[in-house]
Amino acid sequence: MEKRALLYEGKAKRVYGTSDENIVWLEYKDSATAFNGEKKANITGKGRLNNEITSLLFLKLKDLGIESHFIEKLSETEQLVKKVTIIPLEVVVRNLAAGSFSKRLGIKEGQPLSKPLVEFYYKDDSLGDPIMTEDHIEELKLATKEEVAILKKNALEVNKALSAFFAELGIRLIDFKLEFGMDANGEIMLADEVSPDTCRLWDIETNAKLDKDVFRRDLGNLTEAYENILARLGGKQHV
Ligand code: C5P
Repeated sequence: MEKRALLYEGKAKRVYGTSDENIVWLEYKDSATAFNGEKKANITGKGRLNNEITSLLFLKLKDLGIESHFIEKLSETEQLVKKVTIIPLEVVVRNLAAGSFSKRLGIKEGQPLSKPLVEFYYKDDSLGDPIMTEDHIEELKLATKEEVAILKKNALEVNKALSAFFAELGIRLIDFKLEFGMDANGEIMLADEVSPDTCRLWDIETNAKLDKDVFRRDLGNLTEAYENILARLGGKQHV
C-alpha cells in the first residue's frame, strides 16, 4: 500500500490517501487539545499510545463481532483504515456521572447511572460541539431516524463489550465518545478512535484517572496513565 497526499488534518490525526481509493492512512499526532482547542500541548509519545491502544481495542471489538473501519496497524503511530464519510455527530455513552453530564445536571462525579445513557453532540468546532436531541439531528438532516436508532444500538453494544473487557483489566469504563462513518455502500461503520483520549477510564480499586482528564485537569503525567492502560491491554510498553 502506498501513502499518497494529505487529505485532512484534525486535532489528533492526519489522514492521507493511498493507492486504494477505499482505504486511508492515518497518522496519530502527539498533540493534546481540550476545551474545544483552548488548551493545547505537545506530548511526546501520545500519538504512539493512542494508535497502539485504539488498534488493540478495535481488534478486540472485531473478536467480539463488532466491525469498525480499522484494517491494520502499520507502525507505532500509523494505521490503515477503510475510507468513510464521517457522520458529524459525537455519540457519547455514560455508565457513571462525570464531566459535562455532572456539570450540566449537578450530579456528583462517580455516581452510577441506572442504565447506560446515550447522548449526541453536533461535531462543529465553530458552535463548540453542542448537545443535540434526536429531533435536532433529523431537522438538520445529519441522519435519519432509522440511522439514529442504528447509532444508538451500535454504541450500546460497544459499551457492553468494552465495559466487560475493561473490567477484566481492573478498569471502570465511565463514559466514552464514538464517531461513525458511512462507507461507499452506505453502510454505517464505527470509525475514528477508541482510546484514553475518548474514554474516561478509572482504576477499579483506587478510582485513579487513566485518561485525558489527566491533561484537562492537570492531574499528573498523561503518558504514564496511557502506558498503564496499554500495559493492561497487553501491549508493548516503551522503555
Ligand atoms: O466532556 P464530556 O463529559 O461530555 O465527555 C464525555 C466523554 O466523551 C468523555 O469520555 C470524553 O473523553 C469524550 N469526549 C471526546 N471528545 C469530545 C467530547 C467528549 O472524546 N469532543
